[in-house]
Amino acid sequence: MRLLDDPNGFLVGAWRQYGDLFRLRIQIMGDVMVVADPQLIREMLVGDQSLFLAGQANQLGEPMVGARSLFLTDGDDHVWQRRLILPPFHARKLQSYVKQIEAISAKNLAALPTGKAVATRPYMQAIAMDVILEIVFGVRGAVADRLREALIAMRGPLGTIIMLPWMRQDFGPGSPWRIFTNRRNRVYELMAEEMAARRKEPDLAERNDTLSMLLLATDEEGRGLSDIDIRDQLLTLVTAGYETTATGLAWAVERLSRNPEVLETARAAALNGDDAYLAACARETLRVRPPLYHIARRLGHDYNIGGYEVPAGLAVMIPILLLHQREDIYDSPLAFRPERFLARVDPLDWLPFGGGPRRCVGAYLAELEMQIALKELLTHYTIHPAGTKDEHMKVFHVTLVPKHGGVAVLERI
Ligand code: HEM
Repeated sequence: MRLLDDPNGFLVGAWRQYGDLFRLRIQIMGDVMVVADPQLIREMLVGDQSLFLAGQANQLGEPMVGARSLFLTDGDDHVWQRRLILPPFHARKLQSYVKQIEAISAKNLAALPTGKAVATRPYMQAIAMDVILEIVFGVRGAVADRLREALIAMRGPLGTIIMLPWMRQDFGPGSPWRIFTNRRNRVYELMAEEMAARRKEPDLAERNDTLSMLLLATDEEGRGLSDIDIRDQLLTLVTAGYETTATGLAWAVERLSRNPEVLETARAAALNGDDAYLAACARETLRVRPPLYHIARRLGHDYNIGGYEVPAGLAVMIPILLLHQREDIYDSPLAFRPERFLARVDPLDWLPFGGGPRRCVGAYLAELEMQIALKELLTHYTIHPAGTKDEHMKVFHVTLVPKHGGVAVLERI
């Protein structure tokens, strides 16, 4: 429970007491080996993927993302799926979405209340959801409204309850599993309708959104994704890209509000079109407050980790949060200093998006979105801290969220 309520305090406390390797016993996961040693982390991320199985470690997410999700597969199947899913997320392709993301950010940020403390996370969630609906699903208007409502309902607090394997039973009307599966069926129904409609669109091949591209994607032998594959991948993209990006943005507001000098430099950067500094602000936020504070692997066979014989099947946790607080990697690691990202940082020392062959598919989209939304916010609002204390970190579903929703006091410029 402490890991959910105070992940930073709990993990840092254990790290200080036990060092870079320790074992936790977590109710729903069993024993978990925590590995905070940078060298061992590298080995797990870029080493033999049949030994460090990400799909096996992510199985608790199955009800939310579906059995064919990229999150849950390993080996050749994962490599095959990933090759078909990646093209819409290439940096060059994503440049074509800049105008859309700017318009989405401007619309949602214009609704922010001013002159009083406001939790910014809901507004950032609205941005992240609209980006997914337009760019990933390729829908707008009434279709987007229906899908938005259904996706948000499915992803409510029940999402945490049904992660507990013993809650995945239908105990009758009103039981969490019945409610969750009804909501998921609604999402499935809307997605099936959209896929059928999209296949008939005469401009399908010219369309820019992920769904249209996945409907037409094939490998060298002409083999494509099934409708179930596509449905599960789209739900994976929502699951992976919605709370994470929104939370990253809410943390950026919280961190900027409490670091006035950085805030001033960031405002000047927004007004002068210095995108590099805004990108650095987003990166530094993801360093000090990584929305996914850990990633996991399950061992494919017995293995010696740092001198300990670890049995096949054991889950290994890579605590991104701890890696980012290492003094031997980052000077004054708790300080919020975007400048450190103006120079080159070793990609395996900065892991908000993981690393190696499982690195986040949407990393570039998320960074672009954060940069654009921050620019919009800083150009139109002054930001003041709400209170003197840093906002506490806690876990919602699997995301590291600000306890009060990234609160700040804003004034329209
Ligand atoms: C700030 C926002 C985001 C953060 C912090 C984040 C973080 C991560 C992390 C830590 C992983 C696991 C990597 C590993 O196991 O090594 C991951 C995987 C993934 N992310 Fe993201 N993500 C973000 C946004 C997005 C977006 C916007 C999308 C797409 C719309 C996305 C799609 C995915 C997918 C599909 C995977 C699975 C990759 C695989 O298993 O091969 N993410 N993300």
